[in-house]
Amino acid sequence: MRHTRWVTTTIDQDHQARTAVSTDLWRTAVVYQIYPRSFADSNGDGIGDLPGITSRVPYLRSLGVDAVWLSPFYPSALADGGYDVDDHRNVDPRLGTLGDFDAMISALHGADIKVIVDIVPNHTSNRHPWFREALTAGRGAPQRDRYLFRNGLGLRGEQPPNDWESMFGGSAWAPAGDGQWYFHCFAAEQPDLNWENDEVREDFRRTVRFWADRGVDGFRIDVAHGLRKDLSEPYLPWDEIADIMRPDGSHPLWDRDDVHEIYADWRRIFDSYDPPRFAVGEASVHPARRARYASADSLGQAFNFAMQDADWRPEDYREVINSGVADMINFASTTSWLLGCHDTPRVATRYGLPLEEDRPAQQVARDWLLADGATPRLDRALGERRARAAIMILLALPGSAYIYQGEELGLQEVADLPREVLEDPMASRTTKEKGRDGCRVPLPWSADGPSYGFGQHVGHLPQPEWFAAYAVDVQEADPGSMLNLYRRALALRRELFVSDDLHWVESESSVLHFARPGGVRCITNFGPAPVALPVGEILLSSGQLDQSRLPSDTTVWMRAR
Ligand code: NOJ
Repeated sequence: MRHTRWVTTTIDQDHQARTAVSTDLWRTAVVYQIYPRSFADSNGDGIGDLPGITSRVPYLRSLGVDAVWLSPFYPSALADGGYDVDDHRNVDPRLGTLGDFDAMISALHGADIKVIVDIVPNHTSNRHPWFREALTAGRGAPQRDRYLFRNGLGLRGEQPPNDWESMFGGSAWAPAGDGQWYFHCFAAEQPDLNWENDEVREDFRRTVRFWADRGVDGFRIDVAHGLRKDLSEPYLPWDEIADIMRPDGSHPLWDRDDVHEIYADWRRIFDSYDPPRFAVGEASVHPARRARYASADSLGQAFNFAMQDADWRPEDYREVINSGVADMINFASTTSWLLGCHDTPRVATRYGLPLEEDRPAQQVARDWLLADGATPRLDRALGERRARAAIMILLALPGSAYIYQGEELGLQEVADLPREVLEDPMASRTTKEKGRDGCRVPLPWSADGPSYGFGQHVGHLPQPEWFAAYAVDVQEADPGSMLNLYRRALALRRELFVSDDLHWVESESSVLHFARPGGVRCITNFGPAPVALPVGEILLSSGQLDQSRLPSDTTVWMRAR
């Protein structure tokens, strides 16, 4: 792990950044997200596993990442890709054992790669012993108080308590069978926990300590903004609360002020370790409220989803960068940038679909998925060119960077998965979405084999034939591949961006141009025609230059003279 100096960035009206020093290595870390069930399958059962990850440590090392974040690998019926956890302190037997976990972490640490695990505190699975107990214990039993049970409406409670909807579509309530209903923000197989219950609090303290004691360096907190809820009556109608982004903590379900009490408590645990354990919150909140999660007495970092949501337009990128940098100044925190994750259509696909004025790229991609990729036409080459340019912007920014597995291969979303193989509950709970399986298809490691090197057998989601062209071994042999671009960019980032100065350089409106420490420039041409570059040394380019001009949809890092 590199020990870079971190510099708090300030920005004035000219967007001129200034700095003050800190030494927290997490603030600039590049973190690679592994979705374990789709990464590498060591035993041929079609499901990626922990020994599979261990076998690929050399690959992660050669990529040049500082840390990996593992999406859940806990025992689970996979009602929501493992985010329905049966036991927060164990490994799903299909993915290995705690011994395999120890071997994996020691191999990663041996390669100087830190490990972040996912903590899922908003809900358990419906197979969790607590939930089974709650169902059998019956109305009024203390076992029900660990969850959010309420009486149904109607003579026998046959109607849900209110009209609130789950994030995956359909009612947010499921019947207990005795006139009571339990609340679930996500799938019915994911009953929400009651964070006012002391046993719940104590159990998660144990979970955090359990993994920290096993050598885990940090935690990604799932649905960090959702733990505290106000389910008191009278309930507001759903159409008044369907928009979850509020600037003032007044939503009954999301981003309530008292959620930070939980993280202040965990912070004491994190800081009781040497070195202190790291945490990053998945907090989809109003931008003005994000920094609370990133503050030193709460989680310390929070994902900034703005770039993942941005369209491929210079003004969108400028705005996203300005607001991320402003967060760093205002809250003495860092920004955690990302272009994609296991919940979003792949970046190369989002940027290969037509840009629309009134529908964001995310939505265009979701609607395209619903049409099984039939319409509108996807321009893969364009999407890949833009994805190359975009990652170079992201890696040139101050802050930390998250890379979702397969982005380094330029993988496209798989749009034509047959309905019967879909695993995501979104696909079955709503007709408006095809779900997130298209970015969770097992990785291609080699151009041949039953699952392109993923394992000895076909994977749990079918890989399309075109995956062969994206395989790791194909890209390793091609100096111009996406994989080799990532490797060069990650290596150069360590060398070049050792402090966090950033200032904008005046340029035409279709060009994004900022300067970083030592005069290094990051320049992107979003326009259709090539543009002139300043005189200087090109350090890295996302595509071929056009006689020393910067072509459309291309980024360079250069040192201007
Ligand atoms: C956020 C995770 O990223 C997503 O995959 C999951 O479905 C929900 N949280 C519920 O745990």
